[in-house]
Amino acid sequence: MASMTRYRIDQMLSRHGYCSRGESRGWLKAGRVTVSGEKAKNPADKVLLADLRIDGEPIDHPEGILVMLHKPAGLVCSREEREGPNVYSLLPERWSRRNPPITSVGRLDKETTGLLLITDRGELVQRWTSPRHKVTKRYEVVSDQDLDPDLVPLFASGTLRLPDDADPCLPANLVLTGVRTAYLDLVEGRYHQVRRMFAGQGFRVTSLHRSQFGALELGDLPLGQWRAVTEESI
Ligand code: URA
Repeated sequence: MASMTRYRIDQMLSRHGYCSRGESRGWLKAGRVTVSGEKAKNPADKVLLADLRIDGEPIDHPEGILVMLHKPAGLVCSREEREGPNVYSLLPERWSRRNPPITSVGRLDKETTGLLLITDRGELVQRWTSPRHKVTKRYEVVSDQDLDPDLVPLFASGTLRLPDDADPCLPANLVLTGVRTAYLDLVEGRYHQVRRMFAGQGFRVTSLHRSQFGALELGDLPLGQWRAVTEESI
């Protein structure tokens, strides 16, 4: 959002998830909104974002949101209530009321843990989920039985087919790190892809964790916590 552009106060409050345009009059009346230190009076006034304070604070993430979340198991990435508790419950409620609202960059299964990017910038979702852009995602896998070294050339071959999928999987880098543990680097993100790649060869993935997205590593970010990241770090 260009910093020298003026916007209506009510539009800014609703776009950033504080309240609806209709409710903004009440916020102004209550003295919660100031412009250059003065109490704002008219919600239709056009102001510079930089001059606006809400409850004394600058507007939250005026340039858009981009954070990484350490997703715990048991939460879904969908907002459908019937699918159960979701990852958005770990983030500020206001972010889901923004326009556009926050969304995850791709999805992790309910039982998968690890790095999940969250943004309100649709162009980033497009770019980072498209297989054309070949963003590498690293998954740490635990298998229910001893892994077969023959999986390595098979996954790398670019010929592996998943049931119901028209195209074979793009070449993927599998590295065995223990008898039943490995990591897998993928540049695509098909539905349940890691679990299906192993299942097709007779292995059940008992634990799945995403440790890396592009150049970004989850590092020691605690489970259930998030932190802001830059576009350049991906
Ligand atoms: N592959 C899967 O099977 N599940 C995930 O959550 C991500 C990749």
